[in-house]
Amino acid sequence: VTPKALLNNPVSLVSNEMNTLAKNILSLVGSGHPVLNRVTGYYFEAEGKKVRPLLVLLLSRALSKIPIEERNRIKIDFSDVPEDPVYSKLPHSLLFEHPAKNFSPLHILHGIKPLNPLTKGPEPLTEGFDKDSGILPKQRRLAEIVEMIHTASLLHDDVIDHSDTRRGRLSGNIAFTNKMAVLAGDFLLGRATVSISRLRNPEVVELISNSIANLVEGEFMQLKNTAIDNDLSQVLDGSNYKNLPSSSMEVPGHDFKVPNSSERHAGSHSQMIETSFEYYLHKTYLKTASLISKSCRSAAILAGAQDPVVEMCYNFGKNLGICFQLVDDMLDFTVSAKDLGKPAGADLQLGLATAPVLYSWKADPSLGPLIQRGFSQPGDIERTLEAVAKYEGVEKTRELAHDYRDRALKNLREALPDSDARSALELLTNSILTRRK
Ligand code: FPP
Ligand code: MG
Ligand code: MG
Repeated sequence: VTPKALLNNPVSLVSNEMNTLAKNILSLVGSGHPVLNRVTGYYFEAEGKKVRPLLVLLLSRALSKIPIEERNRIKIDFSDVPEDPVYSKLPHSLLFEHPAKNFSPLHILHGIKPLNPLTKGPEPLTEGFDKDSGILPKQRRLAEIVEMIHTASLLHDDVIDHSDTRRGRLSGNIAFTNKMAVLAGDFLLGRATVSISRLRNPEVVELISNSIANLVEGEFMQLKNTAIDNDLSQVLDGSNYKNLPSSSMEVPGHDFKVPNSSERHAGSHSQMIETSFEYYLHKTYLKTASLISKSCRSAAILAGAQDPVVEMCYNFGKNLGICFQLVDDMLDFTVSAKDLGKPAGADLQLGLATAPVLYSWKADPSLGPLIQRGFSQPGDIERTLEAVAKYEGVEKTRELAHDYRDRALKNLREALPDSDARSALELLTNSILTRRK
């Protein structure tokens, strides 16, 4: 029986894993260049919310409560994640040395597992597997990988958004320059990719790789008042572009054709609202929910869960991820920069119409031209803020976030047996609606 105190704090169930997360990540991202190390490690030094790894770890623990007989999807691989080479030690030849004696990445490539140094036999199957938490080493590594990818995207995002603060201090682009922030993000992605491939699970490699592509697609959909949305729209809407496959297509039910700016501002008012909401939610899925949902799906795959459970874990992550971003877009209107630890009111400044604005536009059609020109004329931002207050854009966004929260809770109860970890996940899902940063 888990003490009640533990249930009140979702983190406590996986505190061992969460406490070693940053240290483990740093061991995966060491390089021979001290300045690169400083930039790459910069966002890991400040305390982030770490929602994504927390989700992966709690979900993994909850999945472990599914009886083994019901996990026949694949043979469950309890073996440890192959140790990573000691990256931080140069010269480069050392990259190919494995800390375990007589063992190199070549052995891993050929599917040979490390030998137990004492018995000279294969490692016991449960080696590295924490029986108390039920979390597999590969799932722990997945949590680290997801945080690395998220951090890489934040380094890039702050360059794109011209942000000057993150996690209560200077953002990477300001502390180190745009160039270094971009390169450090790329480096983190590179190392994350190395770690994904070491999970030796092609399905998980494909999922996580796709989520990286989705992040970029989401950011592209969000580019406003730039060549993409205006001048180049004819070029991009031309036949060449139409024939290109979208990497978002692999998600079942996501064969959504992205409408361009003129399509979104055509037709009757209610049609425009509908298309704009569709566009906004699809963008939200790509930029935020995709990484979360695909990592939840990956955790289930690594647990050897059966297809329906894998699917429900994916839906849980998707609904929770959309809820998370809706709240983020709400907080941009309601919380000060000081409390957020990053710029507030940034979306209107960037020309972005998020849910609170779309709801206000629904009530006041005259906001349309302001949205289309990205709030670029004097007084546009003030007028939009008044409309958001008058038509309760924030409250309506909160209700929409509630809907997604409810769907996520339903997915959880369908996917997982009752357990302390499932309760913690429910608590975490609910806390997303009340978060202030
Ligand atoms: C934060 O959104 C940003 C994201 C959720 C994704 C950013 C993705 C990219 C920049 C694409 C490149 C991706 C990789 C993997 C390098 P926000 O700006 O709305 O939130 P904020 O208020 O926290 O800045
Ligand atoms: Mg940003
Ligand atoms: Mg952004």
